[in-house]
Amino acid sequence: MISAMTILVLNGPNLSRLGKREPEVYGRQTLDDINRELTESFPEISFEFFQTEYEGKLLEKLFECEDQGGFQGVVLNAGALTHYSIALRDAISAVTIPVVEVHLSNIYAREEFRRHSVISEVCVGVISGFGANSYHLGVRALLARVSLEPD
Ligand code: DQA
Repeated sequence: MISAMTILVLNGPNLSRLGKREPEVYGRQTLDDINRELTESFPEISFEFFQTEYEGKLLEKLFECEDQGGFQGVVLNAGALTHYSIALRDAISAVTIPVVEVHLSNIYAREEFRRHSVISEVCVGVISGFGANSYHLGVRALLARVSLEPD
């Protein structure tokens, strides 16, 4: 099958611990489970999956995709970097690939420090609070965006 589009699913610090980490907040699925489900749910999409605990590596991956070309969008769960990384915000601003910010939990219904995202303003949209489904909704948002673009 020829892929309609290529999407990078980018995860930041602590998301490697999904499944074990605070399951009452983040659910029992591992990141591998979530990534597998995405691949199964969207067979027409070619995915690249990347997770890192390091801020700089997240930035490098974004730039790599931008320079390589061929990516129509990024679904990004930046973890705690969401709340304070101006470097990540600047990196998202610096690339032309649309980035959708996603969170498993509803960051607006949690501690005060999680209620502000420094990256939302430079992302095309935010999906927060739907568990693993937030990633699926992020992919759908990118698909809808691409189909709305003039040829
Ligand atoms: C998170 C929310 C962040 O506040 C937190 O630091 C995470 C996960 C989420 O997916 O709900 O690591 O991004």
